[in-house]
Amino acid sequence: MSQDELKQQVALAALKYIKPLLQPDAIIGVGTGSTANFFIDALAELKHDFKGAVASSDATAERLRGHGIEVFDLNEVSQLAVYVDGADEANRKLELIKGGGAALTREKIVASVAKMFVCIADESKAVETLGAFPLPVEVIPMARSSVARAIVALGGNPVYRVGVVTDNGNILLDVHGLSITNAKEMEAKLNNIVGVVTNGLFAQRAADVLLLATLEGVKTLT
Ligand code: 5RP
Repeated sequence: MSQDELKQQVALAALKYIKPLLQPDAIIGVGTGSTANFFIDALAELKHDFKGAVASSDATAERLRGHGIEVFDLNEVSQLAVYVDGADEANRKLELIKGGGAALTREKIVASVAKMFVCIADESKAVETLGAFPLPVEVIPMARSSVARAIVALGGNPVYRVGVVTDNGNILLDVHGLSITNAKEMEAKLNNIVGVVTNGLFAQRAADVLLLATLEGVKTLT
């Protein structure tokens, strides 16, 4: 089974998992990336069972609208029944690295207001220790060099993601060389650097459920 087939399989499992949470007035949060895209395409089938969605990126908003799913501004919404999104890495505590698709800030905001965060991934994303995937950090453009120096002082090797501007108009540093044994602490330290908008560690708000597609089927980890 290819990686895309695993992603599609887990997207379908997510649809089944969240179906009981869908009600006519429910608004759900939807993430960004290729796994999230499979989920959005599957979600279209249930579009009459819920009110609409909040998107974690412009690309996701466009895809949702393309399926006739209404997209709401988060400021119009007080609570999201569930947030479904992919990840670049997930550990056993369901702490994540996200942001490979550059949408980490909006993803973290949407996840923070969701009652439940369902992470969907193929088994290549499951790790013992976070950090082999370079950790994305969104930075205000004028602070690129000062933030990079502060990250080096923390033991990381920041690499500017050339040519990428986030939906918020900022730049990204991908931090190599970290072995993250205390994800909550690292998340807080990085957020404390002046000029950092957010970082791709989802530890303070980890996933509640990880649906992991494997060759033996989809595993549900909590
Ligand atoms: C986007 C993300 C994605 O969830 C992450 O990069 C995983 O992407 P994919 O499902 O394409 O493997 O955090 O910012």
